Amino acid sequence: MSATVVLGVTGGIAAYKIPALVRLLVADGLDVSVVMTRAGTQFVTPLTLATLSCNPVHVDMWSERPGPQVEHISLADRADLAVIAPATANIIGKLAAGLADDLLTTVCLALKCPVVICPSMNVNMYRNRVVQRNIKTLKEMGCHVMEPESGWLACGWTGEGRMPEPEVIAAEIMRHLSAPDLEGERILVTAGPTEEPLDAVRFLTNRSSGKMGVAVAARAARRGAQVTLIAGPMSVEPPAGVRNIPVRTALEMYQRVMEVFDDSDVVIKTAAVSDFRPANPATGKIKKEEAPGKISLVRNPDILHILGTKKRAQQILVGFAAETENPLENGRKKLIAKNLDMLVLNDVTQPGAGFRQDTNVVHFLLRSGEEESLDLMTKDRVADLILDRVKEIRLRRGRKQDSAPSEADHQVRP
Ligand code: PMT
Repeated sequence: MSATVVLGVTGGIAAYKIPALVRLLVADGLDVSVVMTRAGTQFVTPLTLATLSCNPVHVDMWSERPGPQVEHISLADRADLAVIAPATANIIGKLAAGLADDLLTTVCLALKCPVVICPSMNVNMYRNRVVQRNIKTLKEMGCHVMEPESGWLACGWTGEGRMPEPEVIAAEIMRHLSAPDLEGERILVTAGPTEEPLDAVRFLTNRSSGKMGVAVAARAARRGAQVTLIAGPMSVEPPAGVRNIPVRTALEMYQRVMEVFDDSDVVIKTAAVSDFRPANPATGKIKKEEAPGKISLVRNPDILHILGTKKRAQQILVGFAAETENPLENGRKKLIAKNLDMLVLNDVTQPGAGFRQDTNVVHFLLRSGEEESLDLMTKDRVADLILDRVKEIRLRRGRKQDSAPSEADHQVRP
């Protein structure tokens, strides 16, 4: 994506988070032009933000060189989105009043694009009636004002007024810039490994990091879907903008998935669920001398298979598989046996594919018979392509309507 974001930085302590935000936006392929107020430069230097954004930072109205373009107008014209972060009570008041007494406020008055405002201030300033009235005015004018977080504030008070973390702001920015082509879809994603306790401190698990599932959840949220992520213990953070339900064992994952399934339009099961669990986990730590010679295992529920038997006609079910032998043949069998609409087959024999990697090599097997082999690519890109296929399946099926499981949906082989 090569959209242009004008990032307005004003004089609040939360400006220390802005270098991290700029890095995230640049990593996402955005062209970031920073405009700072004089007060903003007291908290973070223009040089830092120029270096990270790879663009000049604009501060002074009067340093514009005469030329064919008027800088503050061309900045406003180029912007696909403007973000004010941190937004002090002062800038919020000026924007609500339509003042233009420095470069940032002048650029803002000339904007034609959506504007996201991230308030950041002391809790009592934030609650002040004038500030609340100004925020209301900005919302009525069509600005998107992010809710500040609540917690310890740099001024020593505790309450609302903290600027959201860079990851949360970046997710909001990407959501605004992405086509909301999955709006209206409620997507349930499972991710990560499960842990199956052996005793109080030991467990059986696998090498899944959760990266694939997090990529699917993040891209779906960015594209406007309402996303629930049910994840085992991952080595990556859940993305911003999704409802996150952490679980530990396969049985917990099963219970939570069943609670959410009825209210889901699409289920994408990237989780590497443990097929077995120790039959009799010890409540304490097993001592060395008491180590059992054998560990008895019992089967966990096959969550995906059960979902396949319960699926309603309009629900879309996507499974994953990490096969090492006869992948295509085994994948085709799984697609039918689990009553899936699509199976994503990881080619874990390929370098850069499967567990823990930032990249993957996958084949798509669709219930319609179509098959597609993809080259090595990032998990983010794989996620977008899966969601593109989900969208196609939805379009082919027509509008969403809730209905009971169909005859065809019941034809599941164990
Ligand atoms: O997390 P990462 O490090 O990014 O790695 C990603 C991944 C390799 C884990 C992921 O891309 C992947 O392939 N996940 C499925 C792993 C697997 O081997 O699944 P399976 O063949 O055991 O199961 C097939 C499908 O059934 C999966 O969708 C799985 O979620 C589901 N399943 C399996 C067992 C079980 N008891 N319940 C299930 O629902």
